[in-house]
Amino acid sequence: MNLQDARILVTGSTSGIGLAIARRLHEGGARVVLAGRDDAKIAALRAEGWHVVQADVSRDEDAVRLVREAAEHLGGLDVLVNNAGGGRYAPLLEQDTAEFRQMLDTNLVGATVVAREAARLMVQNGGGQGHGTIINIGSVSGLRGSAGAGAYSATKFGLRGLTQSWRDELRPKNIRVSYVAPSEVITGFGGSDPASRKNADRKIQPEDMAHAVAALIEMDDRAFVTELEVFATNPW
Ligand SMILES: NC(=O)c1ccc[n+]([C@@H]2O[C@H](COP(=O)([O-])OP(=O)(O)OC[C@H]3O[C@@H](n4cnc5c(N)ncnc54)[C@H](OP(=O)(O)O)[C@@H]3O)[C@@H](O)[C@H]2O)c1
Repeated sequence: MNLQDARILVTGSTSGIGLAIARRLHEGGARVVLAGRDDAKIAALRAEGWHVVQADVSRDEDAVRLVREAAEHLGGLDVLVNNAGGGRYAPLLEQDTAEFRQMLDTNLVGATVVAREAARLMVQNGGGQGHGTIINIGSVSGLRGSAGAGAYSATKFGLRGLTQSWRDELRPKNIRVSYVAPSEVITGFGGSDPASRKNADRKIQPEDMAHAVAALIEMDDRAFVTELEVFATNPW
């Protein structure tokens, strides 16, 4: 897909990976709508000139409104980067139930409602032929479980299953659905302090993820990457 004037919604784009993706796509000529919850971050991005929709994707009505408002602003939708998500690590013996449900509501249910609304628009593109790209930001925790990552891992495994199902449903409608699985990326993910991470400069930066996602979108529409794992070359 040619990025020039492509109509793109990036969820979870008030910081971190999503914001880097949005900046990169904008530099490539796309028209990008941002989304997130945090008042201060949204105000700062609006002051930069971005169109930001404030919505909590774990709330059904917010997720539906988010896609509607983005599409109204853009005049339709070509690409969804389904990136909003979060997680707290805890071993099974200490897993808090409400925290697990919150992760499920955001990373799985929210991602599904946003994708459903986006896909309903994309199938109408091209005079009803369908056209579009959905990129779900998963995790290597969605490919392999590990100690302490159980609940988060479950949501990202689930997102992978959703990706595979949506892919089979939507390919005949000319919509590409991909799963992108980063290893550790230096962001404020889960309330962490990026500056406190060991060997931070040797690990994946949000801009590296933006590079990968832009490449997936820019591939000619006749083909797509089903899954992409991204690792730091030598983080030790
Ligand atoms: N960093 C990593 O090591 C890593 C590795 C693999 C996968 N990932 C995935 O990458 C994605 C982005 O994470 P990040 O590392 O960039 O972390 P981040 O800087 O904390 O960004 C998370 C983004 O998601 C938004 N968000 C979270 N919950 C939301 C909700 N309920 N409704 C709407 N927006 C919500 C946040 O918006 P507000 O702050 O405005 O609410 C923020 O824009 C996540 O899906 C995460 O699981 C991260």
